[in-house]
Amino acid sequence: MNKATVVSVLWYGATVVACFALVRQCRKPAWLPGRLFARMMNSTHFAMTTWALTHVPLATDSVVLDVGCGGGRTIQQLTRLAPAGRVCGIDYSAASVAVARGTNAAAIAAGRVDIRVGSVSSLPYADESFDAATAIETHYYWPNLTTDLREIRRVLRPGGRIAIVAEAYRGKRFGAAEVLVMRVLGSKLLTIDEHRAACAAAGFSGVEVFEERKKGWLCVVGVKGAYQWSANWS
Ligand SMILES: C[S@@+](CC[C@H](N)C(=O)[O-])C[C@H]1O[C@@H](n2cnc3c(N)ncnc32)[C@H](O)[C@@H]1O
Repeated sequence: MNKATVVSVLWYGATVVACFALVRQCRKPAWLPGRLFARMMNSTHFAMTTWALTHVPLATDSVVLDVGCGGGRTIQQLTRLAPAGRVCGIDYSAASVAVARGTNAAAIAAGRVDIRVGSVSSLPYADESFDAATAIETHYYWPNLTTDLREIRRVLRPGGRIAIVAEAYRGKRFGAAEVLVMRVLGSKLLTIDEHRAACAAAGFSGVEVFEERKKGWLCVVGVKGAYQWSANWS
């Protein structure tokens, strides 16, 4: 092999490794690139999250948990939807939590938001602490979807809702690239029926599925206990 070929092979190899490392940042943001990814996701997930939150009934004083909160923009949206409530965020990436705390600095200082490092598998909250929980583009990374959803169910009050939101799911239009990326990330893409089944297996009832087919957005909402619509929800 001549010198030029060796340089090309090394360059190609380094590019592949760098791309892999960057894509892995979606799964667990770390260090400076992780912080940049968390900030980027604050923008790229905003429109989908805004749409999804229209399917999550919240009262002005709701207490809400955002699991896998990333850069914290969903937390910011939730504080606006529940202006007399409280919002907690949790993420197992210290880089994500640092960005989320920056995004919500004023609300944290006002005592309306609390953001912690922690795993969905072992939430540091008492039983029945929350009226609703959101999980935006995160559930496909969790170690065990059914048991992790059960853990979220534990911290929800009776009648509380979980909203699982994703652009990455099986069966959407033009989803072939995502299948590949998720394979690189070591995550499994679920069909809509598999989402329903996981919610039901975790004990959620009244599972509703909302799909924005043109955009390729999915929002699955399950209820802890009997499905009840309250006139107080705005
Ligand atoms: C693709 S990002 C989405 C972040 C944010 N929800 C958003 O919409 O921008 C996925 C986030 O889920 C977090 N995450 C993944 N697995 C987790 C787990 N087992 N427990 C807690 N957080 C997790 C990652 O650290 C990352 O910040």
